[in-house]
Amino acid sequence: MNKTNQHLPLKGQTSIVTGGSSGIGQGIAIALGQAGSNVCVNYHGDEDGAKKTKEIIEDAGAKCIIVKGDVGKPKDIATIFEKTNEAFGDLHILINNAGIQQDNPLVDMTYKEWDKVIQTNLYGAFLSAQAAAKTFLSQGNTSNNEKCKGKIIFISSVHDLIPWGGRVNYAASKGGLKTLMKSIAQELAPNKIRVNSISPGAIQTPINEDQWKDEKNRKALLEKIPYGRIGKPEDIGKVAVWLASEESDYITGTTLYVDGGMTLYPSFADD
Ligand code: BGC
Repeated sequence: MNKTNQHLPLKGQTSIVTGGSSGIGQGIAIALGQAGSNVCVNYHGDEDGAKKTKEIIEDAGAKCIIVKGDVGKPKDIATIFEKTNEAFGDLHILINNAGIQQDNPLVDMTYKEWDKVIQTNLYGAFLSAQAAAKTFLSQGNTSNNEKCKGKIIFISSVHDLIPWGGRVNYAASKGGLKTLMKSIAQELAPNKIRVNSISPGAIQTPINEDQWKDEKNRKALLEKIPYGRIGKPEDIGKVAVWLASEESDYITGTTLYVDGGMTLYPSFADD
């Protein structure tokens, strides 16, 4: 429950989190709710996960709805935004998070595996950002006192920078997100809309279970993280709250790597 003296940096604001039923999206949705925001949690298949997210957000004293939808489909995107508007009115924050992995070496990768990952990770991010921008622009001045008209945060990956063999579909989608984010940021800055990315490293979630469940793989993964621990969804949640808040009002077009140093090329440390 909210304590009356608790600082709620996102009080009175409304957020949409795509893919909020598990992993990083769930961690961010919870953090936004705990920061006072109303939250629309979008999910694709995992209704139980979405319900769990909603329960935790409501326990924190914030309002939450869950909306099923495939972010790769324009019709579903329209539903997510309509339902959010019906429930909460003006929108302030989009967390463009929904993402999947379907790994295979290049020569074995099927068209379907390529298409599905690009569809969700890149088309989905484009469609969601477009819908958010249209919404922000149609709202005029936001109902809170912020100077900013709206915030879009892409959840990318260290693999928008680090090449990743065996996952070229995923790496290409994240590489694409990087210039998509920057181009949208450039286009919308004059409209007082801030657009940024968070690029997480290895965060302990179902998407990378194979890398941390088994002891040998976990050790190998830790060697890639100079800071010496695997991240948690809360690590990303806290950064997302800050990046969505007025505290970061002068930041747009930036990628924040939240990765315990994974992008520091640790294998070169003792060269
Ligand atoms: C991937 C994870 C991986 C991490 C670091 C993320 O984008 O989804 O599977 O552990 O990057 O390599």
